[in-house]
Amino acid sequence: MFLKNELTELLGIRYPILGGTMMDLSLAPFVTAISKAGALGVIASVIYKEYDHFRADLRAVKDATDNPFAVNINLFPMMEKLDNLRYLEIMAEEGVKIVETSGFAPPEELLAKFKEYGFTWLHKCVGVRYAKKAASLGADAVIVVGYENGGATGNLNVTTLVLVPRTVDEVNIPVVGGGGVMDGRAMLAVMALGASGVILGTRLMLSEECPIHSDLKKALLQANELDTDIIMRSVGFAHRIWMNSRAKEAQQIENSGGGIAELYPHVSGEAAREMYETGDLDAGTVSCSQAIGLAQKIQPVEDIIAEIVADAEARAGQLSE
Ligand SMILES: Cc1cc2nc3c(=O)[nH]c(=O)nc-3n(C[C@H](O)[C@H](O)[C@H](O)COP(=O)(O)O)c2cc1C
Repeated sequence: MFLKNELTELLGIRYPILGGTMMDLSLAPFVTAISKAGALGVIASVIYKEYDHFRADLRAVKDATDNPFAVNINLFPMMEKLDNLRYLEIMAEEGVKIVETSGFAPPEELLAKFKEYGFTWLHKCVGVRYAKKAASLGADAVIVVGYENGGATGNLNVTTLVLVPRTVDEVNIPVVGGGGVMDGRAMLAVMALGASGVILGTRLMLSEECPIHSDLKKALLQANELDTDIIMRSVGFAHRIWMNSRAKEAQQIENSGGGIAELYPHVSGEAAREMYETGDLDAGTVSCSQAIGLAQKIQPVEDIIAEIVADAEARAGQLSE
């Protein structure tokens, strides 16, 4: 059965589905809901400026569910340098077993710690070359997300339909595929391409538990597949986001040669957090997949996961009739 495989075994999860790490949003309650639903919830360490708060959230997830969860370690360039080694130490102290890195190839000192702490290591990236590098460095699984994905896209611009099978052909560890996975059709398709599981970002952003204002969720529900675009490519940080007026202004700044200083007020974490908290739709920008065009409703995480799995299973059955 395709829903029980080497990935579910490796991670100890019920369904081969990973919740995408989300800056400012992947805090304990949301992550708990994802893990409780049988997928892998992933805490975003980068959110926590206070290590005690990080530890408290790890404990909150552990107290709420016995199901596995992971912690993401951010390898993308940040305005503010964080001590990733300290997060790893706290994870080990709190008994977290799975680490996900996202960005480019991880530095050697992190790898040594993954080994020392006995973590299962997943690496998320947007290109075959990075996936191969992570596999050669000892990753237990790689996650690849195609160009349609919400969030960092890199500059390779390879779509999910190509990136997943190319990666599957190049590495001999489980591959999780994503970028545009909104429903059971896409889950089945990505697994038919050879992936052992899928990652969901944008679909879970439209869950009841995702901590963004309901006005923003409702606005995103109205968006279609043409309402996202890439910004920040000119400053080496290409991201696919929802094209609200703030995003359009940011694009204009880039088109007229503006740099990070001019862009920053539009794309900053503070601006995004204001939008998330107040529901002011033009306060900041938000990562978003092209697959937003397929979104139909806001649901509890549990229903989203159950619906996707049931749909994938039903369609697998139809295809084999
Ligand atoms: C609002 C939002 C915030 C995100 N923040 C991060 C992040 O901080 N780190 C990261 O590795 N990926 C981040 N991502 C990417 C997701 O983890 C995931 O890889 C991606 O959303 C999958 O593609 P999809 O949106 O098409 O499902 C974010 C995505 C969204 C929608």
